[in-house]
Amino acid sequence: MVAPGNSGMQKDGISCVDIEATPEIVAFTKRTNISLVVLGPEVAILSDLKEKLEAVGIPCFAPSPAAARLESSKIFCKEILSAANLRTAAAQEVLDAQSAEKTIRKHHFSEPLVIKVNGLAQGKGVAVCDTLQGALKSATELGQNFGFPLLIEQCLQGPELSAFALCDGEEFVFLGTACDYKRITADPFSANTGGMGAYSPCDFITEQETEEIQSIFAKTLKVLSQRGTPYHGFLFAGLMKTPEGLQVLEFNVRMGDPETQALMPRLESDLAELIARAVKHELKGASVRFKPDVAVHVVMVSQGYPEKKMEIGHTIEFKQELPASTEMYFSGVSSQAGALINTGGRVLGVTGLAPNRAQARELAYAGIQSVEFKGRYFREDIAK
Ligand code: AMP
Ligand code: GLY
Repeated sequence: MVAPGNSGMQKDGISCVDIEATPEIVAFTKRTNISLVVLGPEVAILSDLKEKLEAVGIPCFAPSPAAARLESSKIFCKEILSAANLRTAAAQEVLDAQSAEKTIRKHHFSEPLVIKVNGLAQGKGVAVCDTLQGALKSATELGQNFGFPLLIEQCLQGPELSAFALCDGEEFVFLGTACDYKRITADPFSANTGGMGAYSPCDFITEQETEEIQSIFAKTLKVLSQRGTPYHGFLFAGLMKTPEGLQVLEFNVRMGDPETQALMPRLESDLAELIARAVKHELKGASVRFKPDVAVHVVMVSQGYPEKKMEIGHTIEFKQELPASTEMYFSGVSSQAGALINTGGRVLGVTGLAPNRAQARELAYAGIQSVEFKGRYFREDIAK
């Protein structure tokens, strides 16, 4: 059962209930004897939903809002990383426009400077600036739009990857790695999106670095627990492989989109069983098994995305059956007169699963090519 879900999920036989407010969800879960609730997006995680569900005895797999500050406060995140002795970009907190300007003017711009909002900003809270004027402008705009404090941060260089863990407060199981494609085209300076595709596992880290990623999760959980805010739920580390080694860019307190669509089809273990163990704090000794396959996920968006003005409301046609070893996932869709129409920016995506990346890629694109609607767009270079 998914709340609120979408018409595409319903078409696939998943039960959806169109509710989002805490009282409705609590009443619904009680009435229907739901025994476990998993919270997805950070808005739900930062709300009172977990507290209200647990108050009526319904287990809820999600971090507490206090532990979720790992994502909702970059300053808290830096504090935890420092206490855990983990590598991250050096950063300075500035409390107002004058101190922002003073700090920015000290930088020589032989390398860029990163300006960041402290709180949640729906992906619009980070500016990588390579000139003094650009940095001053970004600090003014970010301060005006999101308020102070801001973080003025060293710019790191290197490829990025996402890593995931399922945590029970003390213990965790490692869910693996994935790489996403954030830009609307292959041009690294084109517009930022919610994600145009992903592949899993990440192909540029060594076995030793994979161990190091697990130690990043272990150390972070230990510090959070010692501070009285133990972390339960999915934890997502945004990492960069720099010449100095792996560094933590950020944490998200949820799974990633579209990384999850590439990660989950590779999972062999029973996810529900792992979550059920985690809510009972019984993850110790649990292991997680993956298929040896590689997954590639390609996202299809509406024309105009990521701008606000988009071509929406067109009937989505499914020309052929999806090939074997592929899976389609829906997001910005609704139903109209028995058909699905595109109603959002990111409409759907297809994952291909195969023994190697070239084959997985071929499957994902074969699935994507079977979908038609007016103005559909997808990147052609995912996992190339
Ligand atoms: P965040 O919200 O912190 O993940 O930042 C969003 C994106 O900004 C990251 O995925 C990076 O591409 C970029 N970014 C954030 N912090 C840095 C940094 N210190 N150095 C270089 N790029 C960064
Ligand atoms: N793919 C990045 C995110 O889910 O935030």
